[in-house]
Amino acid sequence: MDIKNLEKIANNLVSPGKGILAADESNGTMSKRLESVGIEPTEENRRKYRVNLFSSKNYEKAISGVILYDETIRQKMDDGVDIPTALKERGVYPGIKVDTGTKELEGSFGEKITEGLDGLSKRCKEYFEMGARFTKWRAVISIDEDNPSERCIKANAESLAKYARICQEEGLVPIIEPEVLMDGTHSAEKCMEVTSKVLDITFAECEKNGVYLPGALLKPNMIISGKNNNNQIDRNRVAEMTIQCLTENVPKEIPGIVFLSGGQSDQDATAHLDIMNKMNKEYPWELSYSYGRALQASALKEWAVGTPESSQNAFIKRAEMNHRARYGKWELELE
Ligand code: 13P
Repeated sequence: MDIKNLEKIANNLVSPGKGILAADESNGTMSKRLESVGIEPTEENRRKYRVNLFSSKNYEKAISGVILYDETIRQKMDDGVDIPTALKERGVYPGIKVDTGTKELEGSFGEKITEGLDGLSKRCKEYFEMGARFTKWRAVISIDEDNPSERCIKANAESLAKYARICQEEGLVPIIEPEVLMDGTHSAEKCMEVTSKVLDITFAECEKNGVYLPGALLKPNMIISGKNNNNQIDRNRVAEMTIQCLTENVPKEIPGIVFLSGGQSDQDATAHLDIMNKMNKEYPWELSYSYGRALQASALKEWAVGTPESSQNAFIKRAEMNHRARYGKWELELE
């Protein structure tokens, strides 16, 4: 394992002012997103929409890396250059989603286990050759009356740790993403309790599997009330509870925490990160973003109703707002 290089890439991905664009929606998810704005979900339309994003001006000051999907890493820009090569030429690291999705956890009440360990090291070798330098694996934990079960948390944590170790052996920085979903009526306290447990078990598994933490990134959810809970906590409280949860459960060796947006509004995702970085504490890790929807929702809408340029402008705007949130320098008036 080339630990020096892993460390360098992980640190560069969370360098000041920068975060990650998650553009690794599976073909199914991306197709649904295109259809939701009235666009036919063809391979060429998925390519065109993403190539337009990747051609935006000056986004590299806010975006250190882009997570791609298997289809996209094999596609080309309009001028015929391979997408990962084009990103690299702009100083942006190409990344790749390497899990193969979720399936029902046997014997559970609707819980999911993420798959993709079979043949992973071979796939990593190919992606590395194509230019990828980091990877993502997303585990999904849901909260309801019966769930999550200890078994589901443990099974997903084991896979996350095995995935991370394999990627590191292949020279790729793993993003470890155990997402506690915001769907449901649960309280923020319940989200905190479950997220704490998930992080604790995930890092215990990482230790068992010899994952090199300075060469890895964590992609967690923030601590928020369930989407359908009538008692939504305010933005300051989200920031405080999230910091408390991370401080208690994330080893200081991890160089960066790159949040997912998970269905939060664009402004909430920016504001929450901004408050955490304004709180002015000496955190052991960088606090950054790896947003999908919170960086792309407005750009996708513009892609359907506006022009390629207005779609790029919408993306650049969100990138700029989150770039400021990295320093705790976002203000509502800037919106
Ligand atoms: P969202 O920010 O839309 O949650 O997407 C991030 C991601 O990559 C989920 O795996």
